[in-house]
Amino acid sequence: MASTNDRSDADVDVTKSADRDGDAHGRRVGTTISMRPADVPGVEGRNGRFPGPSLIPALTAVQREHGWLPREELLTLSREWQRPLYEIEGVMTFYPHFRTTPPKKVDLAVCHDLSCWLNNADDRIAELKERYGDDVEVEVREVSCLGRCDVAPAVAVQEQPANVERVGEMVEAARAGKTITVEAKRTGTAYPNDPYADDGDKRYGVLRRVLAGELPHEQIVETLKASGLRGMGGAGFPTGTKWGLVAAQENLPKYAIVNADESEPGTFKDRQIMAEQPHLVLEGLLLGMLVTGAEEGWVFIRHEYGPEEHVLEQELDYLQEQNLIGEDVQGTGKRLLVDIFTSPGGYILGEESALIEAMEGHRGEPRNKPPFPGVYGLWGQPTLMNSVETFAHVPIILDRGADWWKAQGKNGATGLKFFSVSGAVRNPAVYCVPSGTTTRELIDVAGGMKDGSEVQAFQPGGASTNFLGPDALDVPLDWQPLQEAGSALGAGAMAVVDQSVDLLAAATNVLRFFRNESCGKCVPCRVGSTKAHTILTELLERGGTAADVDDRIDDLEENLRLTSICGLGQVALGPVASVLGMHRRGGAAVAEQPMQPGGSESSA
Ligand SMILES: Cc1cc2nc3c(=O)[nH]c(=O)nc-3n(C[C@H](O)[C@H](O)[C@H](O)COP(=O)(O)O)c2cc1C
Ligand code: SF4
Ligand code: FES
Repeated sequence: MASTNDRSDADVDVTKSADRDGDAHGRRVGTTISMRPADVPGVEGRNGRFPGPSLIPALTAVQREHGWLPREELLTLSREWQRPLYEIEGVMTFYPHFRTTPPKKVDLAVCHDLSCWLNNADDRIAELKERYGDDVEVEVREVSCLGRCDVAPAVAVQEQPANVERVGEMVEAARAGKTITVEAKRTGTAYPNDPYADDGDKRYGVLRRVLAGELPHEQIVETLKASGLRGMGGAGFPTGTKWGLVAAQENLPKYAIVNADESEPGTFKDRQIMAEQPHLVLEGLLLGMLVTGAEEGWVFIRHEYGPEEHVLEQELDYLQEQNLIGEDVQGTGKRLLVDIFTSPGGYILGEESALIEAMEGHRGEPRNKPPFPGVYGLWGQPTLMNSVETFAHVPIILDRGADWWKAQGKNGATGLKFFSVSGAVRNPAVYCVPSGTTTRELIDVAGGMKDGSEVQAFQPGGASTNFLGPDALDVPLDWQPLQEAGSALGAGAMAVVDQSVDLLAAATNVLRFFRNESCGKCVPCRVGSTKAHTILTELLERGGTAADVDDRIDDLEENLRLTSICGLGQVALGPVASVLGMHRRGGAAVAEQPMQPGGSESSA
């Protein structure tokens, strides 16, 4: 049987995770871990990958210092780390965030994806290009979703989120060599999933009980299974089952990762959870590490979430002070080390195996699955990965029990659910509501429709979920009912479209996102998304409508759905197909949702 790399005969010691800021921070992992080739079917394709420490943290550090990657720095990196320059170039050219030429003095990024597009992003972009387009010091870049869809159209200056009113001020400050830094937005909302909402000093109470041996690991897995908690990252895999599977792996060491890559247009709930509930995310992670036997954990966070990363850093400092992370946690002899890994950028890195590839220092292309990360994850070792929201729900479930959790849902659903609500609503924001709340109710919670407009359609779970029409407004926002209605709960990102919008143009905007973010590994996704986008934009430019779309789009949709290897390609044309379905069926739902976004993740 094939091994995981060429050196199948020996353990390979690899030192990973260079310090981003170079300080000898106590909690930095920076350790030597053993990478053993595992006899796992399906990993043959990984032969020839460069083993060894990931160079991405080092590249990120250089980029942070210089604003780009000067060649001398790359040569130094190559020399000091004894890694060929072509490996470094191969990695960095995958990630558009890494710049190989000096940027202009001021970087002005403007989002053009759905939630922003629905809020006049095109006008905003035109205005900013008019203002700064000829400015030798300012680079205006159109970018994919910045995860700030609540302040659409979202803009960032020097990677700092900027609301529309502050853009001018922040640009001028940057021009003068000063970056205005922005703090994470904290609303002070007492979300109902926080068991410590009344007394913040009691936070990490569940973790302390587990460390004291009051809550056995098996019981934790059973409680999570009984609660019915499912993964909130899109695929909806049962969390208790995943934790049990990783715990049962004998291969050591194991790792745990919080997936905080959140990059799909319309999604920003994880950002807000990290800003307001960093303690729950980290407590969930640490509980997952204890239960599965992982000693090292990471929060993998998108680089645009600098303010939220800072909040997590502060919370990690608190954990260290409390001796709740470190080499000997609370004198139990348990080793729990946690660090933050800043993503080098790209929506595809949210896909669990692409994320792992990036952490290992490779191009962020998804792996063929199986094996799944629970068996063969980071460095080929069993790895527990959950989304931010999934981890954040664990403490209250263990504190109040599975029955309490289940009773929080309504209309047959169980538990609580965070939604990012954006688009044509009066108060776009993050809301934590009972699972099973309907779209009509959620729109009311978000202040109702903007300016007396009416709902034409909505995507209930993010850009990768099918559009539904007003006939589905009373469908409970839960896995099964949404699937039956022809869409999906996805990542819990409700984007509401009003009657003034050309829905085919909206779906084409979504397709552009997938086209831009396709990693290019498989031909159908790479070529098909481009071709479909070209066909549709040409048609829209000619003044065409859904009635004019021919069956090439249906053929491409089927091809991408059946032959792409990851969820991105599988769902890329789903939203377009759903709009065509609505048109063909007289405004009602729809084509079938191809599969849960998150794709073919049927196992841990
Ligand atoms: C293209 C793509 C992007 C994804 N992005 C994310 C993401 O940003 N955050 C996330 O938690 N899961 C994302 N997922 C799902 C992950 O692969 C994985 O299922 C998830 O992190 C597991 O955690 P959960 O069980 O808690 O949902 C994505 C999947 C695909 C196919
Ligand atoms: S489906 Fe698209 S994004 Fe996914 S691996 Fe293939 S090319 Fe990459
Ligand atoms: S920030 Fe523009 S769509 Fe999310």
